[in-house]
Formats: sequence, C-alpha cells, structure tokens
Amino acid sequence: MRQKFVIGNWKMHTTTAEAIHLATAIATGMVTDDSVTVAVCPPFPYLALVGEILKGSRVALGAQNLYPAKEGAFTGEVSPTMLLDLGCRYVILGHSERRHILGESDAFIHHKVRVALDAGLDVIFCVGETLAERQADQTETVLDRQLLQGLDGLPAATLAHLSIAYEPLWAIGSSGHQATPQQAQDAHTVIRQRFGQIFSERSAQTLAIHYGGSVNPKNADGLLSRPGVDGGLIGGDSLNAEPFLAIVQAAIRQTQPVEAV
Ligand code: 13P
Repeated sequence: MRQKFVIGNWKMHTTTAEAIHLATAIATGMVTDDSVTVAVCPPFPYLALVGEILKGSRVALGAQNLYPAKEGAFTGEVSPTMLLDLGCRYVILGHSERRHILGESDAFIHHKVRVALDAGLDVIFCVGETLAERQADQTETVLDRQLLQGLDGLPAATLAHLSIAYEPLWAIGSSGHQATPQQAQDAHTVIRQRFGQIFSERSAQTLAIHYGGSVNPKNADGLLSRPGVDGGLIGGDSLNAEPFLAIVQAAIRQTQPVEAV
C-alpha cells in the first residue's frame, strides 16, 4: 500500500513571525503516527528558519521551486544544492502558477525535474488542466503532454523519488470550484495509466499521486478515501495549523484498513 502524504504549499505567504508561529504549531500539533508523511514548503526566505523549528519533528521540509543548475551566474535563483544544504527533502516542480504566471515550459520543467532528482531531492511534479481545457474535453491530452514532456527519459532508478500532484487549475484557491472525489480519481487513473506506458506497469503501481485544489478538512476524507488518491497538496488550508492538521488526521483515517462489520 502506498503511504498517504500531506504537503503544505505556503506559496508566497507568511512573514517571519507568521512562519515561526505556523511551523511551531504544525510541529507540536502532529500526532506520533508514522502512517502518513507530512511536509511543508515555505517560501525560500523562511526555509532555514522553518527547518530549524521542524528539526526532530515528524514534519519534513520542502521548497516550492529551484533553478536547474548547481551554481553559477543566475541572479535571483536558488539551486538544488542550496535546498539540500537548508535541509529540504522535497521540491515542488511544474506548479500551475509557475507554468501559467511565470511562463515555464514543459521542457524547462523537465530539465528542473532531472537536475533535482540528480541532486538527491524528492520531486513533487504537478500537472493539471485549465477550465477551458476541461470544457473542451482536453484533460487527457493536456495530462498526456505534461507527463510525456515533463518526465519521459528519466532514469528508472530515480522514479522512487518522484511523486505527481494532480492539480486542476479550475479547482485551485478561490476559484469557487472543487473537484469531486470521482473527478480526482478519474484523473489519477489516467495519470497512472499513462505513467505506466511511459515507464513500466511496476513503477506506475508504486507511484504516489496526490490531489491538490481546495482540499479542506470537510472534503479531505472523501478525496483521500478514493483508490489511487495517495495524498493532498494543500494551499490555503496549509496556512493555519488547525485545518492543515485536520487534513493530516483525515489522511491517517484513510490509511487505516476498513474494519469488517
Ligand atoms: P489551494 O489548496 O489553495 O486550492 O491550492 C492548491 C495548490 O495549488 C497547492 O499547490
């Protein structure tokens, strides 16, 4: 059974004081249950600070982005080496906000994924369609392109350090829309099948696929109970410890084997 995973993506939020408060509340509020992996991804300026607070806790540290080079003349960028140096285990790559607001191409994201895996980071690779693409029945085509162009050719030995987050753009943030558990499950099935074709059936079965887009304590059980929905990538509700920890609790519940009645 793939282990459930809950990741907080703080995006461009928090001040120093808020980051300290939030990280402390999450680290101290975590129950000692190791059936679920938990990570938070603060903004770059707070990685060192949050990393110190999380030391010795069950919460891992991740980053929201990187530049695909070890070092060099890349003004304003952050390397995988720096992230590892700060104690990061994870990095989110291909997030829709970077694809659509910052204009990152599939090819550039592919390069980032390769370099990050090569450096020894665990990659959370995001895919997802826009509302217009869904309405035009293009969801599978878009997922197919993002998977193929983002991942094809990765060495098989690195795949254990890769997970995928399905984040339909129309369900993210204050869009007012939420994907139903069935919509999430269907997309995850497509992603797993396609991943199996690109790599192997075996790697597809061990691949963790997370769902992201307005996950909250109310809908978390429904989403995480679905076969093939292995975790949640949380934006808004990762900015307060209470809802975030409630989502972790949902993941723990959905990990327990169902008791026979
Ligand atoms: P929300 O949970 O705010 O919809 O954000 C999802 C997301 O983009 C996480 O990466």
